Parts: sequence; structure tokens; C-alpha cells
Amino acid sequence: MNRPEILSYIDANKDRFLEELFELLRIPSVSADPAFKDDVQRCALVVKESLLKAGADMAEIHQTAGHPIVYAERTIDPSKPTVLVYGHYDVQPADPVDLWDSPPFEPVVKDGKIYARGACDDKGQMYMHVKAFEIMERSGGLPCNVKFMIEGEEEVGSSNLAIWVKENKEKLKADVILVSDTSIIANDVPSITVGLRGLSYVEVEVTGPNKDLHSGVYGGGVANPVNVLCEMIASLQDENHHITIEGFYDDVEEVSAEDRAEMAKAPFDIEAYRKGLGVASTRSESGYSPSEGTSIRPSLDVNGIWGGYIGQGAKTVLPSKAYAKISMRLVPYQDPNDITRKFESHFKKIAPPSVKIKVTPHHGGEPIVIPTNFPGYVAASKAMEESFGTRPIPERSGGSIPIIALFEKELGLKSILLGFGLNSDDIHSPNEHYGIFNYLKGIETIPLFYKHFTAES
Ligand code: BES
Ligand code: MN
Ligand code: MN
Repeated sequence: MNRPEILSYIDANKDRFLEELFELLRIPSVSADPAFKDDVQRCALVVKESLLKAGADMAEIHQTAGHPIVYAERTIDPSKPTVLVYGHYDVQPADPVDLWDSPPFEPVVKDGKIYARGACDDKGQMYMHVKAFEIMERSGGLPCNVKFMIEGEEEVGSSNLAIWVKENKEKLKADVILVSDTSIIANDVPSITVGLRGLSYVEVEVTGPNKDLHSGVYGGGVANPVNVLCEMIASLQDENHHITIEGFYDDVEEVSAEDRAEMAKAPFDIEAYRKGLGVASTRSESGYSPSEGTSIRPSLDVNGIWGGYIGQGAKTVLPSKAYAKISMRLVPYQDPNDITRKFESHFKKIAPPSVKIKVTPHHGGEPIVIPTNFPGYVAASKAMEESFGTRPIPERSGGSIPIIALFEKELGLKSILLGFGLNSDDIHSPNEHYGIFNYLKGIETIPLFYKHFTAES
């Protein structure tokens, strides 16, 4: 399809495109919390119906041990290429709800942005594909075949989708995977994500005395597990913000000076970055800029830490236990299982004899890098150049979508990460939002991708 035709369809239908997205956003499809199980099912049903209505030949819901997968197809000609669209309809929990300016599951538009949990991650971005498909279908402009695989467990690790993909390789045969679940640099600086970090996520439990103690009677004589945990965590990074776990950097890809210079050309306003986050200064590994620290270098962060008395007022107690949830973002060619093992043995090694340590691994995922010299990338670049009016910059992102590496391994397919969010959209945070500009720009760009991909293949 050509751009003017796409734009006039969008113009005539944009209110409906928004209203339909709002319907999805009103469903609290929180995958992590069993209390929302029925809402997740209901959301899958709405996604399935939307695909049928847009013109799919078939759409089905596949139940899994967890939340369902929505699958749909439209075949126009088996000799033409096939695009496999991946996205997720599940969302992160809305907590802390009292920090939202409006209820998380009652979408509102403010300053040209849609505010709701999932507006950007990923309902808004996933639904762009349904509407782009509708446009191509209704205008007779669908140039190739398309399959949709929309899951309900991305935010909890995609473990059931991984099983389903392995069992359905034939069904999922395609030429490229198309995903909108990432960001662009700015609305006037389009970019295509060519790297995602991997993830190792662990929970640690530190046990001191066999019960909570009076902090006056025992304090000074017995190791406090909260104090010990803080010391241990502090020692995981040295004064250069280098991670101290033995062997942690063994497999880290050293990006060449040329590649780093190329990456540094992407505009990055450090002043605006600081201001937007309310921090007086940034902090990254010595020798690396903040954008490098969040893309080509691994990182380690405490995501949550607790123990002892956290209620009102002061209770004097020397707690028996302390806990933390720690994430490590990984880069090529670090292996999440290897890193988890290294973390565990290091953490046990540095523990003083006064405490016992338990490490529990959670879901993880492999990092991925996507080349810029294959038909999928070329098509995505041309599509964005046409819709934005400037050529997109390839950029590595700090986030993770673990299933992308599995797609490559199991299906032999590369993914195109054609995201339209902004890093400032507050995904996973209170007041998540997605620009109407971004939503409509995505809907405009996707049919152009199909056109160029069909021509390039
Ligand atoms: N869409 C995000 C990942 C993302 C966000 C990539 C922004 C690039 C830019 C995805 O839904 C997500 O949140 N992934 C999780 C990992 C998952 C295992 C819970 C993440 O990155 O924390
Ligand atoms: Mn996402
Ligand atoms: Mn997410």
C-alpha cells in the first residue's frame, strides 16, 4: 500500500482505533497475579475477536498451563512471504496504585497521550498490528501472508509460549518475525532496536539467628542479616561500578571502538535525561557512557529488599531474616544459566559464617543482537524512513524480551523490533502512557513494512 492511502484510512478511522484500544486497556490482564486470571482470559478473547473482525481466516485461543496464547492467520498466496507478528496482551501489575493520577485500567487522554497500564507495553503497540492488518485487508493491500502469535505471559517469563513454540514449528513457519514492544529514540529521531539484553534474576534469603531478637539485648553480639545483606550487596560492585562476581565478564562481547563511535552518534540529551529522572548526576561503569551502560554493558540491580520491621513507628528488633530480589542484565555472549551459577557461588563465598544463604533463581533469558543487512531490517528501515521522513538509527536497548532468542533458536527466524514507544513512557511504572502520535505512526508504518518486505524478499 502507498502512504497516502494508509493515511486517509487512518484519518477516517482514528477515533474508532482509539476507542477499540481503550476497550483492551480496560481489562486488567495482569499476568503475575492469579486474582486476574479471568481478566487475562477475557482479554485473550477480545484480541482473538479483533483479529477475526480485521480479516483473519482463522483465529484461535490455545490454553496453556498458564495464560492463553492467541493465534491467527491470513493466507493470501502460499508462494508469497509470511510475516509472523508477535506481541503480548498481558501487563505488569499496576502497583503502587495510589501513585497514579488516574485509575490504571480507566484509560484517559491527556496532552495527546493515552494513560493506562499497558498503553505502551504492550497492548497499544500490539494493537497497532491488528489495525494495520485491518487497513491492508480492507483496502486489498495485504501483499503477503501473515500470522499472529499474541501471548499472555511475557511479563512473567514466557515459559509456556516457549513450550508451545517448540511444539508448533510447522504452524509457525514464516520468513520474519515482527515485534512492536520496544522504543524509538524520540518522535523526530526514529530508531530500530537491534539488541536486547538478557536477564538473570535471583532472589536471596539471608538467615541470621533462628528468631527475631531484641535489638538492645542482642545487638552488638549477633550478626544482623539485614546489615549483612547490605554489606554483601554493596560489595557486588567496586568503586568503578564494575561487577565483582568472579568470572562475570568472561563472555562479555567487547564492542569495537569503531562500533562504539558509530553508536555514540545517536542523539542523547544527558541533561534532559537527568532532569526527567530527577537525579543530579548519572552513574555508569567507568569508561562507559550511560547509554553504553544500558546497552552494550551488563548491569546488576537490586529490585527489592526487605526484612525486619517495616510497619508504623519504631519497633526494636534484630531480624532473623533478610531478602532481596536482584536482576542482572546481560549482553552477548553471556549465558543466563552460567551467570546465575556464578552469582550463587560468589554470593555464598562472600557470606560471613554468621549467616546462612539461600539463592532461588527466577526466569531469565538470553541477550540478542539483530543484524542490519538482511531483508527484514532493510524493509523496516525503508518503512520508517517513509513514515518519519528520516532514516532510522539502529540502536541497542537495555530491556529484555527473552522469547526473541528462543524464536531464533527454535524457528530459525530473525525478529524485527519495530517499536514505537519512548523510554519516558513509564512502562512498568505508575502513569504509564503512550502517545497518540506513536500509536498512529505505528499503524502507518506497519503496512509500509509489509510492502517493502514483500519487495525485498
Ligand atoms: N517490552 C518490554 C521490554 C522492553 C522495554 C524492551 C523497552 C526494550 C525497551 C517487556 O515487556 C519487558 O518488560 N520485559 C521484561 C523481561 C521479562 C522477563 C519480565 C524486562 O525487560 O524487564
Ligand atoms: Mn513488553
Ligand atoms: Mn514489560
